[in-house]
Amino acid sequence: MRIILIGPPGAGKGTQAKRLVDGFGIPHVSTGDMLRAAVKAGTAMGRLADEAMRAGKLVSDDIIVGIVRDRLKEPDAQAGVLLDGFPRTVPQAEALDVMLEAEDLALDAVVLMEVPDDLIVERIVGRRSDPETGAIYHLVFDPPPPEVADRLVHRADDTEEAVRSRLAAYHAQTAPIVPFYEAKGLVKRVDGVGAPDEVTARVRAALGR
Ligand code: AP5
Repeated sequence: MRIILIGPPGAGKGTQAKRLVDGFGIPHVSTGDMLRAAVKAGTAMGRLADEAMRAGKLVSDDIIVGIVRDRLKEPDAQAGVLLDGFPRTVPQAEALDVMLEAEDLALDAVVLMEVPDDLIVERIVGRRSDPETGAIYHLVFDPPPPEVADRLVHRADDTEEAVRSRLAAYHAQTAPIVPFYEAKGLVKRVDGVGAPDEVTARVRAALGR
């Protein structure tokens, strides 16, 4: 199964991806997570990506397409993949088509998680992540257990200023991939507002799983 999760920053893509992949037996491939790991490791690619990410801008298509191409060649991605945060531009979507066609593979669905802009800032500013387990929390909507509270991190791009820039990038550069995939009959729209369990049920229903 090959699925793409798209939606604005804070739509709940990462939260839902972690819940879905276990049952599906496919890896969760998040370009945001891969870039943050490269920044943390201080690699050349991480240094190139860091500035754009902090400012809430997109990293260049060349860098992103290269890391996704390499990741999709790994053994655990052969039976399927859940892509989170990729593609994010029409050129990235076109490059993914070329990669899949070269292997005679196809996408099963593109899940579009819809959350209005006015809820996004609150979700993003309150997000905290656990660097040891990868778990995602929210200080109000999904409070972390006290025993992990001291080690939680606040992402460098989770400021109000950066999230407004990320939202602008979403509307200008990522939203145009929706008609690209609608023309292929792949888009499943899911309401991302409501408790995470309700949203998971909607995504599963949209995927027929
Ligand atoms: P990336 O890491 O992909 O960030 P994003 O798309 O902005 O999405 P987020 O991770 O912020 O949000 P999410 O939808 O996963 O929400 P989450 O589940 O955490 O990318 C970061 C940066 O990397 C980009 O800005 C760009 O610079 C670069 N980049 C990455 N990919 C790229 C690409 N392909 N091309 C170019 N550049 C790229 O939830 C958010 C919060 O809400 C959490 O606190 C959570 O607990 C809470 N929450 C979740 N669901 C609910 C709910 N149903 N109700 C209430 N609260 C909820």
